[in-house]
Amino acid sequence: MNVHDKGHADAAAAELSLADKKSTLPVRSGTLGPDVIDVGKLYRDTGCFTYDPGFTSTANCSSRITYIDGDAGILLYRGYPIDQLAEHSSFLEVCYLLLHGELPTHDQYAAFNTTIMRHTMLHEQMTRFFTGFRRDAHPMAVMVGTVGALSSFYHDSTDINDPAQRAMASHRMLAKMPTIASMAYKYSIGQPFIYPRNDLDYTTNFLQMCFAIPCEPYVANPVLTRALDRIFILHADHEQNASTSTVRLAGSSGANPFACIAAGIACLWGPAHGGANEAALNMLAEIGSVERIPEFIAKAKDKNSGFRLMGFGHRVYKNYDPRAKVMQKTCHEVLDALGIHNDPLLKVAIELERIALQDEYFIEKKLYPNIDFYSGITLRALGFPVSMFTVLFAIARTVGWIAQWKEMIEDPEQRIGRPRQLYMGAPERNYVPINER
Ligand code: ACO
Repeated sequence: MNVHDKGHADAAAAELSLADKKSTLPVRSGTLGPDVIDVGKLYRDTGCFTYDPGFTSTANCSSRITYIDGDAGILLYRGYPIDQLAEHSSFLEVCYLLLHGELPTHDQYAAFNTTIMRHTMLHEQMTRFFTGFRRDAHPMAVMVGTVGALSSFYHDSTDINDPAQRAMASHRMLAKMPTIASMAYKYSIGQPFIYPRNDLDYTTNFLQMCFAIPCEPYVANPVLTRALDRIFILHADHEQNASTSTVRLAGSSGANPFACIAAGIACLWGPAHGGANEAALNMLAEIGSVERIPEFIAKAKDKNSGFRLMGFGHRVYKNYDPRAKVMQKTCHEVLDALGIHNDPLLKVAIELERIALQDEYFIEKKLYPNIDFYSGITLRALGFPVSMFTVLFAIARTVGWIAQWKEMIEDPEQRIGRPRQLYMGAPERNYVPINER
């Protein structure tokens, strides 16, 4: 089969019988990964829905963008292993790959770079939005609001049925997300906004918008720039995770792309998703010293404590998260470049990882460190406050959201997302007037 072919209805089929009803369910195969049982006709044939809270066994779409084998610890973007991309590629090149399906030639890359870097400025009126927020607003709150507001400024790229407008909206979001994020940061610390510099590369430009001040020249440290660029690559897409599924669901109703990405940002904010690196760093700080690790391990194993080791476990990876390996290396590179040799949180992290990986509870439940375990330490060393961590994730994931949204719009099988439910509420009953209750 051609790798570009979509999963197809194979000769194989699953037979399901329920009392006197029968349904023959086609089994579809992709290029990699488990087959799927197509249950689209199940309700028609049997009058039953499937029940799968959290979608643990449910594929919501077919996709050609990202592949994960959680048991083997494999992550591929358009077929390319994440570690190769992190080592050899750049974030902007990965953006091109995710959006277009192939790595760019020199000319394609140059044209893409120019397009993105020429869209970095925000409509000037948007700068006033920021001053409407409280200074102590969480930057993710600012991101949700301002990214959603893009749709009120860029009317010429909200028609989802026009491929040119879809491309324009995609480029705008990729280009403007770092500008919005850095403005949210600058506002929170009371410094003037720094305008983008289109002569810089994507990540260096972002760093200068965050850390330059008008009264001094800013020179980015190339080791740190490369580290952040790599962090962006690692977070760029992750197939049908919660925020991506949110973007797809929002987009399935025909909502404009800026609104859909704002929905994705809102979902990413949660501590079980994008907020986990913030939570992991806070947890390392709370543990504080290597001596207290056994106490926290015991707490994590105690179901009644409600405590989990943040940065451990993953819905899909039941092996070492391949991104966590790259992240761990990047973390050491950043700390070395900054001459930080005795970071107490890093000491706690290394020891916690060592102990947890040998512990029967974590082995049995296949709980390995995820990408968030080391990213918090790295981002803090890069100079970002904890509240910005999820924002950085949002910058990186924007391209994944856009690629998945675009794929969905172009998919002839696409329909409005409308899950069903198992109703457990009251059966039909008559209204009782208030004085009779
Ligand atoms: N610490 C302790 N126990 C854990 C942890 C953990 N971090 N994660 C899972 N477990 C246990 C659960 O208690 C459960 O035990 P049980 O089978 O005895 O009931 C078992 O492992 C399976 O856990 P689930 O919650 O069913 O797994 P799920 O796939 O739903 O959750 C999740 C995955 C949300 C990531 C979970 O592992 C977690 O909460 N981890 C901490 C938060 C975190 O690091 N999130 C980042 C995810 S990566 C990302 O978004 C980029």
